[in-house]
Amino acid sequence: MNYYPDDIIEEVRLNNDLVEVVSEYVRLEKKGGGYFGLCPFHSEKTPSFHVEPVKQLYYCFGCNNGGNVFHFIMNIENLTFPDALRFLADRAGIVLPEPDDKEEQQRIKVRKRILEINRVAARFFYSCLATGKGSEALKYLRNRGLSNSIIKRFGIGYAPNEWDLLSNYLLKEGFDETILIQSGLSIKNKYDRLIDRFRGRIMFPIFDIRGNIVAFGGRVIDDSLPKYINSPETPCYSKGRELFGMHIAKKSAEKKLLLVEGYMDVISLHQAGIDFAVAPLGTALTGMQGRLLKKYSDEIILAYDSDTAGQKATERGLEVLNNLGCRVKVLQIPDGKDPDDFIRKNGPEKFKMLIDRAISLLEYKIGLLKRMHPSDTEESRLDFLNGVADLLSELDNFMEREIIIRKISSDYNITEDALHAEVDRRLKKKRRREKTTEFYSAKKELTGSVRPLSVGKNEGARIRYEKMLLTLLCRENRLYQKVKDRYLPSDYSDDSLKEMAAALYDKLKTGDDFLLEEYISKLAPGMASSMIHLSKNLSNIEEPEKALEDILQKLEVLKLEEEKKDILMRLKNISNIEEKKQLQKQLQSVIRKMSNI
Ligand code: GTP
Ligand code: MN
Repeated sequence: MNYYPDDIIEEVRLNNDLVEVVSEYVRLEKKGGGYFGLCPFHSEKTPSFHVEPVKQLYYCFGCNNGGNVFHFIMNIENLTFPDALRFLADRAGIVLPEPDDKEEQQRIKVRKRILEINRVAARFFYSCLATGKGSEALKYLRNRGLSNSIIKRFGIGYAPNEWDLLSNYLLKEGFDETILIQSGLSIKNKYDRLIDRFRGRIMFPIFDIRGNIVAFGGRVIDDSLPKYINSPETPCYSKGRELFGMHIAKKSAEKKLLLVEGYMDVISLHQAGIDFAVAPLGTALTGMQGRLLKKYSDEIILAYDSDTAGQKATERGLEVLNNLGCRVKVLQIPDGKDPDDFIRKNGPEKFKMLIDRAISLLEYKIGLLKRMHPSDTEESRLDFLNGVADLLSELDNFMEREIIIRKISSDYNITEDALHAEVDRRLKKKRRREKTTEFYSAKKELTGSVRPLSVGKNEGARIRYEKMLLTLLCRENRLYQKVKDRYLPSDYSDDSLKEMAAALYDKLKTGDDFLLEEYISKLAPGMASSMIHLSKNLSNIEEPEKALEDILQKLEVLKLEEEKKDILMRLKNISNIEEKKQLQKQLQSVIRKMSNI
């Protein structure tokens, strides 16, 4: 699993402060010696995600996810260990050496080659647009109002309607067939012939944040279907990770981002001088895209279509962004138009006015409530007002709350006091709930006993005790002397535990300083989580020696019990008298050992 030397891994870890890294994804609040926030790995209303700045470890009391900065990035960016290492090395400006691992070297090479081939292909598409083959496509773009300079800025091109024009060109340029297929630019047809994926389409290069071309989207120039074809997922491209236009929008002078639905909307907005527009790539907004948006802006304005699909997408987008703690607004385009249609009909200035008039998330939600409960009956009016009180009790800005209360109470002809009272009642209830959760979090954290293990309720007792043993060794390094001969790495019942134990014993043998937070760098996220969970449970053990003795005895008993079960099992299936006798002898000895403990 480790392709890089230990000291490099440790250097990368030490140069990425966990509190800073986590803060890019989660809004943290200081509490006691640590920080708390809403867990990004499960959905929750009260914070149980904890970061320890001194130890550089995080842990969620709600879902038991935990680890160091590597596990955090692996989990949240959905990366493998080497990719997380590269991600964090980049972040800290550390240049990594070539990895030791051959496969990993190969992966890096493939990725570089795909980026190269994409660049060559983009240049090819761009030049086709200018020649005779692209004249119709160019006419189409002109009809849609695109200027030469915007075509150049986005690198828009054309893939002529021929079977293998691009494939042949790329082969001639020295790329081999494998990379043509791996990049998604070419496909093998059923006669095993290499053909172009994109034919007769306007080509939009998709850039990542650093300006690499990672994929393409291709649009037909008539009404045929499918309207768009996109590159498949490749080692360089995952559609849930990128945002179209982001490489330009990140340089905008405005600190906000405008989120729209389509490629053409982004391009049309940029041409209109709104250079902070971006779009997801034909899918619902993902958490990863949300985090990218958050990183580059203070405020995100959603400008999806107002048709039902657009409205669904808006709600989903709002939820994703709100969970990340982003400031979100909603821009509503009159008559169900998309931004591109609107601008071409009404001009850029009118659209800029819509941006200024974008409403807050709260106003948007109140609007939805209003539509759901029209005020034609008393009952429906009351439902609406109760809904408003719910929304207001979730709001932490007093001024905004005051303004809404004033407006709604006058519109609905009730007293401001009544609405205030309803909001307060909900707040009190919420506070009571939070107190209980905090109490349980604190209690869990302080439990000093060895017994309460909520992690992996279904895993076997033996594995549980083995993990406890490892954790105890991590905490109390000196106990190694008592363990080294009684429970060997090979005694552990599971391969990954054997591996963990071997690494740990090796480290402790040398007598070097041992740090849990360093050691777990090498563990898979699940393992790291359970180690941290256990170390929390074991943190206040008063008599480690006694706990160790308990654990070792338990493990010995469990080991013997397993042996006994195994022998009984074999006895059942054996007819040979001699072998049977032998096994019975073994059984006696196991039982004797058990009664001696
Ligand atoms: P125009 O129709 O030219 O204005 O393009 P648009 O970008 O406005 O497209 P539209 O609003 O219809 O769709 C929004 C986005 O959804 C597009 O930009 C694509 O990313 C995606 N999309 C639309 N149609 C298809 C399709 O047929 N296949 C795929 N894979 N994605 C599509
Ligand atoms: Mn459109």
